[in-house]
Amino acid sequence: MDASSDALSSALLDWYDAHARDLPWRSPPGAPPPDPYRVWLSEVMLQQTTVAAVKAYFAEFTRRWPTVKALAAASDAEVMAAWAGLGYYARARNLLACAREVAAQGGTFPDTEEGLRALPGLGAYTAAAVAAIAFERRAVVVDANVERVVARLFALDTPLPGGRTEIREKADAITPEARSGDFAQAMMDLGATVCTSRAPRCLLCPLSPHCRGRATGEPERFPVKAPKKAKPARNGRAFWIEREVDGEGHVWLVRRPGKGMLGGMRALPDDGWSARADGSGEGPLAGPWESAGMVGHVFTHFSLSLNLSVYLGNQCDSLAQEAGEWWPLDRIEDAGLPTLFAKAARLALAETGEEA
Ligand code: ADE
Repeated sequence: MDASSDALSSALLDWYDAHARDLPWRSPPGAPPPDPYRVWLSEVMLQQTTVAAVKAYFAEFTRRWPTVKALAAASDAEVMAAWAGLGYYARARNLLACAREVAAQGGTFPDTEEGLRALPGLGAYTAAAVAAIAFERRAVVVDANVERVVARLFALDTPLPGGRTEIREKADAITPEARSGDFAQAMMDLGATVCTSRAPRCLLCPLSPHCRGRATGEPERFPVKAPKKAKPARNGRAFWIEREVDGEGHVWLVRRPGKGMLGGMRALPDDGWSARADGSGEGPLAGPWESAGMVGHVFTHFSLSLNLSVYLGNQCDSLAQEAGEWWPLDRIEDAGLPTLFAKAARLALAETGEEA
């Protein structure tokens, strides 16, 4: 590292010592590192998800499964249901695969980036973050916040995603040997609280004397992004099938196949989301179907409009028992439905006059 990188990382670490966010998965600046299990779990949860959204899930997971061995012993269904609402469900499947492998190896995480990277479902970002934060290894940790800070510091104007190679090289050049976990989290905190996407607060920034983006007078311009493609719109139908079982209202829920969108999650039956916009097409029972309205959800690669069809009646024998289960309406909150189907359930309950 050259002298200016040294000055830059010292300025950032001094700032972190005074301004680090107090988060449940962290140790205070300069203190011994936290439990690797908690670091790993938090880093998986924080991918594509805000700190505010993660906090409650992190508290609940660590309460129910305080160690990686405890998590490894949980069933797929329990973990998928506990993840419901956080999104990007492949993360939960990978989390379990990784926990089970760590447990099989004795319950201790490998303490190097390479060792971590060799675990199933543990990607390059997570390996770097855990190596740095939990094991104080020098590792280059680049998430979206760090990307923005680095692109501004060096006024890098190659549009993303292509510009990521250069961002990584620069991040590598400024990462210190010591306190690399604090350095990574300091960059994240700076990006989250000072070097924000809009209206960065350069007057409060410990790096402003080093910042070429600021010197251009337009730091917000960085990172430059390739124009977004419009998301394709998809349509589909979902089916709310309700009947009484032992005098109580129940709804028919299925489990989605392990691979693919919302894989492994409990769900309402649907038509595969490739229906015509008018929502016509067969349902899982021969009607009569009533339309309860539409629910919308935006996924990473498309936006979806689901036409929700409701069936209230008892002619349900053609539903194959092994393909689903009758779920009590008064426990619908515990079904672990992902957000799309939780929205649909609220709509159906409002339409059929039940409590949501
Ligand atoms: N985003 C990803 N990892 C983080 C961390 N350790 N602290 C705060 N935000 C984060």
